[in-house]
Amino acid sequence: MTRRKFIAGNWKMNMTSAGARTLAGGVRERLANFDRADVALCPPFPYLALVGEVIKGSSIAVGAQNVYPESQGAFTGEVNAEMLADVGCRYVIVGHSERRTILGEKDELLNRKVRHSLAHGLHVIFCVGETLEQREANQTESMLDNQLTWGLREIPADQIPNLVIAYEPVWAIGTGRNATAEQAQQAHVFIRWRFSQLYGSEAAQRLVIQYGGSVKPENAAELMRQPDVDGALVGGASLKVDSFVAIVQAAGG
Ligand code: 13P
Repeated sequence: MTRRKFIAGNWKMNMTSAGARTLAGGVRERLANFDRADVALCPPFPYLALVGEVIKGSSIAVGAQNVYPESQGAFTGEVNAEMLADVGCRYVIVGHSERRTILGEKDELLNRKVRHSLAHGLHVIFCVGETLEQREANQTESMLDNQLTWGLREIPADQIPNLVIAYEPVWAIGTGRNATAEQAQQAHVFIRWRFSQLYGSEAAQRLVIQYGGSVKPENAAELMRQPDVDGALVGGASLKVDSFVAIVQAAGG
Protein backbone atom coordinates (compact mmCIF):
# COMPACT_ATOMS: atom_id res chain seq x y z
CA MET A 1 0.00 0.00 0.00
CA THR A 2 1.27 3.48 -0.73
CA ARG A 3 1.11 5.85 2.15
CA ARG A 4 1.20 9.58 1.58
CA LYS A 5 4.30 11.13 3.11
CA PHE A 6 3.86 13.58 5.95
CA ILE A 7 6.43 16.21 6.95
CA ALA A 8 5.95 18.25 10.11
CA GLY A 9 8.14 21.07 11.37
CA ASN A 10 8.54 21.06 15.14
CA TRP A 11 9.69 24.59 15.87
CA LYS A 12 10.21 23.74 19.56
CA MET A 13 10.74 26.87 21.71
CA ASN A 14 11.93 29.10 18.91
CA MET A 15 10.74 32.14 16.93
CA THR A 16 9.16 35.52 17.53
CA SER A 17 5.86 36.59 16.01
CA ALA A 18 7.71 38.38 13.21
CA GLY A 19 9.89 35.34 12.57
CA ALA A 20 6.89 32.99 12.66
CA ARG A 21 5.08 35.11 10.09
CA THR A 22 8.10 35.19 7.77
CA LEU A 23 8.82 31.46 8.11
CA ALA A 24 5.23 30.28 7.66
CA GLY A 25 4.69 32.76 4.84
CA GLY A 26 7.85 31.63 3.07
CA VAL A 27 6.92 27.95 3.38
CA ARG A 28 3.44 28.68 2.06
CA GLU A 29 4.75 30.62 -0.91
CA ARG A 30 7.37 28.05 -1.88
CA LEU A 31 4.93 25.14 -1.57
CA ALA A 32 2.06 26.86 -3.34
CA ASN A 33 1.99 24.34 -6.17
CA PHE A 34 3.13 21.33 -4.19
CA ASP A 35 0.75 18.55 -3.28
CA ARG A 36 2.85 15.37 -3.22
CA ALA A 37 3.04 15.18 0.59
CA ASP A 38 1.18 16.44 3.64
CA VAL A 39 2.81 19.30 5.54
CA ALA A 40 2.29 20.73 9.01
CA LEU A 41 3.93 23.50 11.02
CA CYS A 42 4.05 23.20 14.82
CA PRO A 43 4.89 26.57 16.37
CA PRO A 44 4.86 27.42 20.09
CA PHE A 45 1.40 28.10 21.58
CA PRO A 46 1.53 31.93 21.28
CA TYR A 47 1.98 31.73 17.50
CA LEU A 48 -0.56 29.03 16.65
CA ALA A 49 -3.32 31.42 15.62
CA LEU A 50 -0.91 33.68 13.75
CA VAL A 51 0.55 30.77 11.75
CA GLY A 52 -2.99 29.52 11.16
CA GLU A 53 -3.83 32.86 9.61
CA VAL A 54 -0.72 32.91 7.43
CA ILE A 55 -1.34 29.43 5.98
CA LYS A 56 -5.13 29.81 5.72
CA GLY A 57 -6.48 28.59 2.38
CA SER A 58 -3.34 26.51 1.66
CA SER A 59 -2.98 22.77 2.20
CA ILE A 60 -0.50 23.30 5.07
CA ALA A 61 -1.82 22.36 8.51
CA VAL A 62 -0.99 23.68 11.97
CA GLY A 63 -0.06 21.55 14.96
CA ALA A 64 0.64 22.19 18.62
CA GLN A 65 3.60 20.83 20.57
CA ASN A 66 1.71 19.91 23.73
CA VAL A 67 -1.73 19.51 25.26
CA TYR A 68 -3.24 18.92 28.70
CA PRO A 69 -5.86 16.18 28.97
CA GLU A 70 -8.61 17.88 30.98
CA SER A 71 -11.72 19.92 30.33
CA GLN A 72 -11.56 23.61 31.11
CA GLY A 73 -10.98 24.52 34.71
CA ALA A 74 -8.32 25.12 37.32
CA PHE A 75 -5.18 23.96 35.47
CA THR A 76 -2.95 27.03 35.52
CA GLY A 77 -0.68 27.29 32.52
CA GLU A 78 -2.24 24.42 30.60
CA VAL A 79 -4.06 24.22 27.26
CA ASN A 80 -6.53 21.51 26.26
CA ALA A 81 -7.46 19.91 22.94
CA GLU A 82 -10.67 21.89 22.53
CA MET A 83 -8.68 25.12 22.72
CA LEU A 84 -6.15 23.83 20.20
CA ALA A 85 -8.90 22.81 17.78
CA ASP A 86 -10.59 26.15 18.37
CA VAL A 87 -7.52 28.08 17.20
CA GLY A 88 -7.24 25.91 14.09
CA CYS A 89 -4.88 23.08 15.05
CA ARG A 90 -5.20 19.83 13.17
CA TYR A 91 -2.29 18.07 14.91
CA VAL A 92 -0.69 17.82 18.30
CA ILE A 93 2.69 16.31 19.19
CA VAL A 94 2.59 14.01 22.24
CA GLY A 95 5.40 12.09 23.91
CA HIS A 96 8.35 14.02 22.53
CA SER A 97 11.54 12.92 24.28
CA GLU A 98 12.18 16.47 25.47
CA ARG A 99 8.88 16.40 27.35
CA ARG A 100 9.53 12.88 28.63
CA THR A 101 12.94 13.82 30.02
CA ILE A 102 12.90 17.57 30.76
CA LEU A 103 9.28 17.74 31.94
CA GLY A 104 9.18 14.22 33.37
CA GLU A 105 6.09 13.11 31.46
CA LYS A 106 5.30 9.44 32.00
CA ASP A 107 3.46 6.87 29.90
CA GLU A 108 0.23 7.14 31.87
CA LEU A 109 -0.04 10.91 31.33
CA LEU A 110 0.99 10.55 27.69
CA ASN A 111 -1.74 7.95 27.14
CA ARG A 112 -4.29 10.36 28.61
CA LYS A 113 -3.02 13.10 26.31
CA VAL A 114 -3.33 10.82 23.27
CA ARG A 115 -6.87 9.72 24.12
CA HIS A 116 -8.02 13.22 25.07
CA SER A 117 -6.65 14.73 21.83
CA LEU A 118 -8.11 12.03 19.59
CA ALA A 119 -11.48 12.26 21.36
CA HIS A 120 -11.58 15.97 20.53
CA GLY A 121 -10.83 15.43 16.87
CA LEU A 122 -7.12 16.27 16.79
CA HIS A 123 -4.63 14.13 14.91
CA VAL A 124 -1.86 12.99 17.23
CA ILE A 125 1.83 12.67 16.36
CA PHE A 126 2.98 10.25 19.07
CA CYS A 127 6.77 10.16 19.54
CA VAL A 128 8.78 7.13 20.59
CA GLY A 129 12.50 6.40 20.61
CA GLU A 130 15.40 4.92 22.50
CA THR A 131 18.44 6.55 24.11
CA LEU A 132 21.97 5.75 22.99
CA GLU A 133 22.48 3.72 26.13
CA GLN A 134 19.40 1.63 25.37
CA ARG A 135 20.46 1.10 21.75
CA GLU A 136 23.90 -0.03 22.82
CA ALA A 137 22.37 -2.41 25.36
CA ASN A 138 20.21 -3.91 22.61
CA GLN A 139 17.06 -2.55 24.19
CA THR A 140 15.74 -0.53 21.26
CA GLU A 141 12.86 -2.85 20.48
CA SER A 142 11.83 -3.46 24.07
CA MET A 143 11.88 0.29 24.67
CA LEU A 144 9.73 0.99 21.60
CA ASP A 145 7.44 -1.85 22.60
CA ASN A 146 6.93 -0.33 26.06
CA GLN A 147 6.31 3.18 24.79
CA LEU A 148 3.79 1.95 22.21
CA THR A 149 2.05 -0.47 24.55
CA TRP A 150 1.52 2.04 27.36
CA GLY A 151 1.19 5.20 25.30
CA LEU A 152 -1.42 3.79 22.95
CA ARG A 153 -3.66 1.90 25.38
CA GLU A 154 -7.38 1.78 24.77
CA ILE A 155 -7.71 3.95 21.72
CA PRO A 156 -11.15 3.52 20.12
CA ALA A 157 -10.85 1.80 16.73
CA ASP A 158 -12.52 4.64 14.86
CA GLN A 159 -9.84 7.09 16.08
CA ILE A 160 -6.85 4.99 15.00
CA PRO A 161 -6.70 6.61 11.53
CA ASN A 162 -5.92 9.95 13.23
CA LEU A 163 -2.76 8.64 14.80
CA VAL A 164 0.75 9.21 13.41
CA ILE A 165 3.87 7.75 15.03
CA ALA A 166 7.20 9.56 15.00
CA TYR A 167 10.27 7.41 15.57
CA GLU A 168 12.81 9.74 17.15
CA PRO A 169 15.92 8.07 18.52
CA VAL A 170 17.00 10.36 21.36
CA TRP A 171 20.67 10.18 20.33
CA ALA A 172 19.79 11.64 16.92
CA ILE A 173 17.79 14.64 18.14
CA GLY A 174 19.63 17.92 17.73
CA THR A 175 22.96 16.14 17.54
CA GLY A 176 23.58 16.29 13.81
CA ARG A 177 23.90 12.53 13.93
CA ASN A 178 20.88 11.04 12.15
CA ALA A 179 19.94 7.37 12.22
CA THR A 180 21.07 5.68 9.03
CA ALA A 181 18.35 4.87 6.55
CA GLU A 182 18.77 1.23 7.48
CA GLN A 183 18.47 1.87 11.23
CA ALA A 184 15.35 3.96 10.66
CA GLN A 185 13.77 1.37 8.37
CA GLN A 186 14.46 -1.39 10.88
CA ALA A 187 12.86 0.51 13.75
CA HIS A 188 9.88 1.47 11.60
CA VAL A 189 9.28 -2.15 10.63
CA PHE A 190 9.27 -3.08 14.30
CA ILE A 191 6.86 -0.26 15.16
CA ARG A 192 4.50 -1.29 12.35
CA TRP A 193 4.66 -4.92 13.46
CA ARG A 194 3.93 -4.01 17.08
CA PHE A 195 1.11 -1.71 15.99
CA SER A 196 -0.41 -4.54 13.97
CA GLN A 197 -0.48 -6.66 17.11
CA LEU A 198 -2.25 -3.88 18.98
CA TYR A 199 -4.65 -2.63 16.32
CA GLY A 200 -4.67 -5.11 13.42
CA SER A 201 -2.72 -5.41 10.22
CA GLU A 202 -4.92 -3.17 8.12
CA ALA A 203 -4.51 -0.27 10.56
CA ALA A 204 -0.77 -0.98 10.67
CA GLN A 205 -0.48 -0.83 6.89
CA ARG A 206 -2.20 2.55 6.88
CA LEU A 207 -0.16 3.93 9.79
CA VAL A 208 2.09 6.87 8.88
CA ILE A 209 5.43 6.55 10.68
CA GLN A 210 7.67 9.61 10.56
CA TYR A 211 11.37 9.59 11.29
CA GLY A 212 12.79 12.42 13.43
CA GLY A 213 16.35 13.25 14.49
CA SER A 214 18.73 15.50 12.54
CA VAL A 215 16.75 15.33 9.31
CA LYS A 216 18.34 17.70 6.80
CA PRO A 217 18.04 18.34 3.07
CA GLU A 218 21.19 16.20 2.62
CA ASN A 219 19.79 13.05 4.23
CA ALA A 220 16.05 13.43 3.65
CA ALA A 221 15.80 11.73 0.26
CA GLU A 222 17.59 8.60 1.37
CA LEU A 223 15.55 8.30 4.56
CA MET A 224 12.30 8.86 2.62
CA ARG A 225 13.18 6.14 0.14
CA GLN A 226 12.85 3.50 2.85
CA PRO A 227 9.58 1.63 2.39
CA ASP A 228 8.44 2.12 5.99
CA VAL A 229 9.62 5.71 6.45
CA ASP A 230 6.54 7.77 5.69
CA GLY A 231 7.82 11.24 6.37
CA ALA A 232 9.73 13.27 8.91
CA LEU A 233 9.34 15.26 12.09
CA VAL A 234 11.90 18.01 11.60
CA GLY A 235 13.38 20.16 14.37
CA GLY A 236 16.30 22.48 13.60
CA ALA A 237 15.96 22.31 9.82
CA SER A 238 12.30 23.39 10.02
CA LEU A 239 13.35 26.85 11.23
CA LYS A 240 14.55 27.96 7.79
CA VAL A 241 12.34 28.15 4.73
CA ASP A 242 15.00 26.74 2.39
CA SER A 243 15.90 23.67 4.40
CA PHE A 244 12.34 22.82 5.39
CA VAL A 245 11.04 23.19 1.82
CA ALA A 246 13.94 21.07 0.50
CA ILE A 247 13.00 18.29 2.93
CA VAL A 248 9.34 18.48 1.93
CA GLN A 249 10.32 18.30 -1.73
CA ALA A 250 12.58 15.31 -1.07
CA ALA A 251 9.59 13.57 0.51
CA GLY A 252 7.54 14.31 -2.58
CA GLY A 253 9.98 12.20 -4.59
P1 13P B 1 16.26 17.90 15.14
O1 13P B 1 15.72 17.80 13.72
O2 13P B 1 16.68 19.29 15.49
O3 13P B 1 17.27 16.85 15.41
O4 13P B 1 15.02 17.61 16.11
C1 13P B 1 14.25 16.48 15.89
C2 13P B 1 13.04 16.55 16.73
O5 13P B 1 13.12 16.43 17.94
C3 13P B 1 11.75 16.81 16.08
O6 13P B 1 10.70 16.63 16.95
